[in-house]
Amino acid sequence: MKKLRITTIFGAAMLLATSCSNKTEVIANYDVIPLPDKIEVDSAAQGFMFDSGTKIVVASADSAMTRNAELLSEYLGQLTGTTPEITAKETGHAIVLSDDLASENKEAYELTVNSEKITINGASPAGTFYGIQTLRKSIPQTGDLKVLFPAAAITDAPRFAYRGAHFDTARHFFPVDSVKVLIEMMAMHNINRFHWHITDDQGWRIEIEKYPELVAKGSMRPNTIIGYSTEEYDTIPHGGYYTKEQVRDIVRYAADRHITIIPEIDMPGHMQAALAAYPELGCTGGPYEVWRKWGISDDVLCAGNDSVYAFVNDVLDEIVELFPGEYVHLGGDECPKTRWKECAKCQARIKALGLKTDKHSTAEQKLQSDFMTRAAEHLAAKGRKVIGWDEIMEGGLTPGAVIMSWRGEEGGRAAAEAGHDAIMTPYQYLYFDFVQSADRDAEPLAASWGDPTPVEKVYNYEPVPAEFTPEQAAHILGAQANTWTEYIPTTSYAQYMMLPRMAALSEVQWRDPAKKDYQDFLRRLPQLVNLYDANHYNYATHVLPSSAKTTDSATATSK
Ligand code: ACM
Ligand code: ZN
Repeated sequence: MKKLRITTIFGAAMLLATSCSNKTEVIANYDVIPLPDKIEVDSAAQGFMFDSGTKIVVASADSAMTRNAELLSEYLGQLTGTTPEITAKETGHAIVLSDDLASENKEAYELTVNSEKITINGASPAGTFYGIQTLRKSIPQTGDLKVLFPAAAITDAPRFAYRGAHFDTARHFFPVDSVKVLIEMMAMHNINRFHWHITDDQGWRIEIEKYPELVAKGSMRPNTIIGYSTEEYDTIPHGGYYTKEQVRDIVRYAADRHITIIPEIDMPGHMQAALAAYPELGCTGGPYEVWRKWGISDDVLCAGNDSVYAFVNDVLDEIVELFPGEYVHLGGDECPKTRWKECAKCQARIKALGLKTDKHSTAEQKLQSDFMTRAAEHLAAKGRKVIGWDEIMEGGLTPGAVIMSWRGEEGGRAAAEAGHDAIMTPYQYLYFDFVQSADRDAEPLAASWGDPTPVEKVYNYEPVPAEFTPEQAAHILGAQANTWTEYIPTTSYAQYMMLPRMAALSEVQWRDPAKKDYQDFLRRLPQLVNLYDANHYNYATHVLPSSAKTTDSATATSK
């Protein structure tokens, strides 16, 4: 039997002459993004023809497997015009889904194709889902199609267990449907963690029943600073928030796509919207406004006030009830100590705790560490773990906290060396609110402090330091890209900033770095872009062949 990598056979999607139906016949190409670990195509054997007679068989009664089948049916319907029926009974000419693959990696899958059947067997329903994604992404175009899937055996598993994407719905509010579109985009890129930045100085965007003013007052600002201006404001009120019912719906939508949401309630800084609602939680007592500009506010939660700790615990109780995942993100970044230094209550607490400035940290940094530790202990009692931005190491690391390394890789590196888990999200490589080329005039408005972060730079990012021992490397849980939305008011704009950088990210997160190849990634990208088009996603075109169908930066803001 002659086995060839499919790339040698099909450099691009091939159209076949139409035979006895008026459907267009296309040949699937398994060279998708992220590229599966092993693809063996048997060019001598007959492949599987997907057409209107094809069914999806799912024998498992597991609801996640049923949802997998429904999603596969939807995906195939969208791309080919034929939405296959789902059945529990073995039947001829079918795509058979199962989840009993023996593998230590629970997200592994095997996809085999012969003339009778396509089988996708995952080591869990999540593994099966990634096989479904590969199958879907192998269809090279959309239309009224019959698809010939070449006979093949594909085995695949991700490198990292944590494959994240962050999105900020605080600086700008995005409606539920937009959040779902972004989650579906993440699923298409095999991402399994959505880090939802849901509160900040510029808006509190999640209903908390015990503190109704958080959304009543804290979710709306009367106007917003324009561009990079320091004094010019628009005249458009901006706001919005997610009800608990909507949050549950989004959590379910993500879970259907094997994505766990990690909610971030950023504290003790980035809390000005909460202070606008409950001024007694700040050091000065206010009044405070929901912030109308960008940057780092001096007004933060007062760490010397017992009612602040009660507030934090109450909010976290409701958060935990909404989000079933193992982790809650407590932020901890960019918390100026200006107010704490002058606040009698904060200083009294520093004294009571016996915190002293030393050569490693200030007393106020240690106060923040105490603050974070209390919140983490409250969550630990409920069986949850915390993630914090790398600043939480400054006054002494919160026990058990996972470090999210954003100010470079140093925080994550130090955490892993000290035996703590870390997630790499360094701004130099993985901030998708930064421009994608050095030609800033050709780029839409983007984070002013960010260096150009082209697709290739994202692609070549390596999360595990080269000198790490295997034990240290095991503490790098994975990588994540962050999209802050100060300058990103619409879903289309967000897509332009994320795509195709998210495709590059997916290969960082999924693939063996020794096998990565940027030129090969570029060769495979147009097929994924066809899927972006099918979903009406906006995307940047810097690295696409000029023949690719395009949207561009000019349209980033206009949709
Ligand atoms: C951050 O970018 N402030 C985490
Ligand atoms: Zn205070």
